[in-house]
Amino acid sequence: TKPRTFRIAAIPADGVGTEVVAAGRAVLDALAENSDGAFAFDWEEFPWGCDYYGKTGKMIDDDGLERLKEFDAIYFGAVGWPTVPDHISLWGLRLKICQNFDQWANIRPVHFLPGVQSPLRKADHTELDWVVVRENSEGEYAGLGGRNLSGRGPGGEVAIQSALFTEVGCERVMRFAFDLARTRDRRKVSSVTKSNAQQYGMVLWDEVFKRVAQDYPDVETESVLVDAMSAKFVLRPEDLSVVVASNLNADILSDLGSALAGSLGLAASANLNPERRYPSMFEPVHGSAPDIAGQGLANPIGAVGSAALMLEHFGLPEQAARLNRAIEATTAAGVLTRDVGGTATTEDVTKALIGHLTN
Ligand code: NAI
Ligand code: MG
Repeated sequence: TKPRTFRIAAIPADGVGTEVVAAGRAVLDALAENSDGAFAFDWEEFPWGCDYYGKTGKMIDDDGLERLKEFDAIYFGAVGWPTVPDHISLWGLRLKICQNFDQWANIRPVHFLPGVQSPLRKADHTELDWVVVRENSEGEYAGLGGRNLSGRGPGGEVAIQSALFTEVGCERVMRFAFDLARTRDRRKVSSVTKSNAQQYGMVLWDEVFKRVAQDYPDVETESVLVDAMSAKFVLRPEDLSVVVASNLNADILSDLGSALAGSLGLAASANLNPERRYPSMFEPVHGSAPDIAGQGLANPIGAVGSAALMLEHFGLPEQAARLNRAIEATTAAGVLTRDVGGTATTEDVTKALIGHLTN
């Protein structure tokens, strides 16, 4: 029989993005080659990013989104380089894709890997395991606002950056979080806001959370303010399962979570369009890491974990599990990059991952 072929658009973009996407592609191709012809990946790579901007003045081609629509998924590296202001590169490529493809749920699992030292005192990888569900279409990253509203010019400038919260936007990401909680051993959803200080959008969020929770009586809930939640991440991580939060709060908390797991380089994420009207996008949580780019130091595990999330999205959960087992076997064997205390290169880790897939 003909293998199921998944068409994937690769956008490595900048810095370590190119290194970890190359690693992820190699691992996925090895997985497909060892699947007895059950499935295959058909890749197309796009050159968009800050170099492309330098040459063309565009972060993505004008017809880029049209072309991406045809793919089953997007496999993304990281965007951003000191030659281009970060708000231009991020809005011009990554946020453009997230928003136009209505990838409203950003899933960021945090768990502890064997052989990786966590800065947490009582870290135990058998107990600590949570998922940050990030509202990914509105909130603080809605792009609403303006500059120089006073018309007073240099020295007197005024800027407004507004956050947008809609009942529909809150409800869909919360239902997603509750449904996810039902698939986990610990059925609990923690909602994060700052509704004591932000009395409009975040109070709406709290109200929607209370209403949605009524439909899930089997799921434990709590509402926690973001400052308290950041302390809880460190002090009582075993008390968390699914954490749902707005765009900005979840962005910050998920970096904290991945640092607690040992390194930003380990953290995986999926930007999902759950209705599947558009392709979803899979990318490591980290950025382009200009401080280590081009030296073979990048940890590819965040990117490879994101590939596992992509396999789940393709309906291949057993293959995703296989990939995650290869990650655990690799870290347990002490094949670690510098960020997690080892001396292995990106290539060493990639080879070890492939070795654990094929034998
Ligand atoms: P960053 O995530 O690139 O780096 C933060 C720290 O983590 C650095 O010390 C870096 O060396 C380390 N790190 C990151 N990825 C690593 C990996 N795979 N292996 C080992 N160590 C790793 O964040 P930073 O420095 O704030 O941003 C750099 C650029 O990336 C900026 O232009 C920023 O806008 C962009 N960025 C892009 C993102 C995306 O495309 N999704 C997300 C975050 C930042
Ligand atoms: Mg971030």
